[in-house]
Amino acid sequence: MKEEKSALRGRFEAGLAPEAEKFIASISFDKRLFREDILGSIAHAKMLQKLGILSPQEADLIIQGLSSIQEEIERGEFVFREDLEDIHMNIEARLYEKIGEIAGKLHTARSRNDQIALDMRLFVKRAIKEIQKAIRELQKSLLELAEKNMEVIMPGFTHLQHAQPVLFAHYLLAYFEMLQRDKERFEDAFRRTDVLPLGSGALAGVSFPVDREFLAQILGFSRISRNSIDAVSDRDFIIEFQSASAITIMHLSRLAEELVLWSSPEFGFVEIDDAYAAGSSIMPQKKNPDVAELVRAKSGRIFGNLLGILTVMKGLPLSYNRDLQEDKEGLFDTFDNLLLALKVMRGIVQTLKVNKEKMEEVLRRDSFILATDIADYLVRKGVPFREAHQITAEIVRYALKEGKDLLSLSLDEYKRFSERFEEDVLKLDFRTSAALRDVAGGTAPGRVEEALEEAWRILREEEGGGG
Ligand code: ARG
Repeated sequence: MKEEKSALRGRFEAGLAPEAEKFIASISFDKRLFREDILGSIAHAKMLQKLGILSPQEADLIIQGLSSIQEEIERGEFVFREDLEDIHMNIEARLYEKIGEIAGKLHTARSRNDQIALDMRLFVKRAIKEIQKAIRELQKSLLELAEKNMEVIMPGFTHLQHAQPVLFAHYLLAYFEMLQRDKERFEDAFRRTDVLPLGSGALAGVSFPVDREFLAQILGFSRISRNSIDAVSDRDFIIEFQSASAITIMHLSRLAEELVLWSSPEFGFVEIDDAYAAGSSIMPQKKNPDVAELVRAKSGRIFGNLLGILTVMKGLPLSYNRDLQEDKEGLFDTFDNLLLALKVMRGIVQTLKVNKEKMEEVLRRDSFILATDIADYLVRKGVPFREAHQITAEIVRYALKEGKDLLSLSLDEYKRFSERFEEDVLKLDFRTSAALRDVAGGTAPGRVEEALEEAWRILREEEGGGG
């Protein structure tokens, strides 16, 4: 049995069975936490020095040793050992090699249980900030695309059927809103992640007068955990991260789906840039929206990761159980894939070609999209809405039968259905239809311009506030 291992196998006579060793080892994935682990250990060493448990020389030796281990890992020179199970033991063993017996003092007043809880919180805090930044970048690209296309009108849909004309910019701003809520959810998750667990020991607290406020301060936590049992067993912050991520990727998947649909020849509303499209190995003419399709598909694994951690936690008795080790791979997977999805979506939006003519052509082909406006017209002339709706339905039926559209009907034809129709009904078109939706949150150009300004203001404020 190897020497370092005695820390974990002290009471046993023999080593772990090889397949058990392989099974419980987490080093293959938790080595990703080396920065957080070393950061936490350095803070812990400083605190131990403050207590007089480490002399200033000992603390220095430990801190320098840890820093040089970090450099070794960053340079790719560190040899990770599976028999040492996890990142904590790998680093500690290396510290022994480097500075000898003093290394053994670092784990005073600490357990791997509060250590890993700390590492995970540090990781999730950073992950949240990175995701929020990537969301913000995607939002900016949506606002820029909206700005460049303020005059573009498209058919708005309900049930994927033509419903009412809307500004293309208004459509894009709908995604801005979804992403804004996503960022807020991450912000909320951040508040509850921003709690220092160190000092909770294995579960009951530690028998040294550790200065937890000092630790929180130097590690950048807003507060310390109130209950040591909860602190070592709580993974809600990971579930919240997974949950906010699942909602975000669901939104990205909807946007991706629109782009897949819109870039099809049947729609032809947009063209995805070559940099974000793929060819076919058999059909030379094809340009496929593979990147958007994969954004849509990534929702599967991210939803799965949320369900995974919920299932691990369900029914776990307090406090720490090794089950908690299973919180990591799903978290890393979600973080990596969500971040990439946000970045490629940003690229797609930034390079998207908008086919304004095609959108307007589709509108012209289906003037019935103005039916609500005809009904509203009659209402303004004093007809009760239900009756106006009925009259308009008859006009639509008549036009369909005659092979006409709403824009080509004469005033005489309109008058056959209601005496209230006057010359001005012929002025109705897609643009006036949109302009009529002059209500807060509506698609009238002035309102959309206001919304766009407000959206930029929100982003500027966030960047000023650092959120
Ligand atoms: N690798 C472990 C985890 O991820 C670290 C904590 C181990 N603690 C223990 N009591 N076995 O949870």
